[in-house]
Amino acid sequence: MARWGKFITFEGIDGSGKSTLLRGIYERLLNHLPEDRIVLTHEPGGTPFANLLREALASRTDREPMAELFTLLASRYDHTKRLIIPALQSGRVVLCDRYSDSTVAYQVFGKGIEYYTVARLNKLATLGIKPKLTLLLDVPVDVALRRLRAKGKLDHYESLDRDFFERVRYGYLALARRAKRRIKVLDGTRNPDEVLDEAWGYVREVVGLA
Ligand SMILES: Nc1ncnc2c1ncn2[C@@H]1O[C@H](COP(=O)(O)OP(=O)(O)O)[C@@H](O)[C@H]1O
Ligand SMILES: [Mg+2]
Repeated sequence: MARWGKFITFEGIDGSGKSTLLRGIYERLLNHLPEDRIVLTHEPGGTPFANLLREALASRTDREPMAELFTLLASRYDHTKRLIIPALQSGRVVLCDRYSDSTVAYQVFGKGIEYYTVARLNKLATLGIKPKLTLLLDVPVDVALRRLRAKGKLDHYESLDRDFFERVRYGYLALARRAKRRIKVLDGTRNPDEVLDEAWGYVREVVGLA
């Protein structure tokens, strides 16, 4: 059987540069690995059913925070069991845009759901797997909002108030302090190439590239 693969997640508030960094890492990995050894995915979503849940989350915002939480977790369970775990079992590198840290940052710190509730449910939804490496892009809320405005992209979350994003950012940093080995905090205000160079150093090490 193949060696267990490498699970790498990308985290940060909306507009922090996650998707940009993920693409950059993917392109660099392609210089070292065949395309079919790398899986690009995202949450919420990542499987047909989870993608429908993502659409549901995006299309109606009149909902209870706990209903939102269960939807995110249903998406995570399906995605983890059907896509992430099989990919890791076959030794692939999995790059995932958002994962369980997002739920702690947004639902606990942002929305005020109790930490232990989310931690316990996250454990079930992830089937106990954890990222080997998490790249956390940290940017001040103003910077993130300015970027999103420039892109003309302010969806449900992004149109929530500034305070909400301050709490989410703080939540991410609190998580990073408790998981220093796994979560690497990157200053996302630098230009994309500098961010990519630093992130690449961590990815290289985790993936075991010379
Ligand atoms: N390091 C950076 N410096 C300046 N702008 C950036 C940087 N990284 C991303 N951007 C721009 O900011 C916007 C949000 O980036 P994106 O990668 O989509 O963030 P996220 O996926 O975290 O929401 C995009 O328009 C992107 O081109
Ligand atoms: Mg994105």
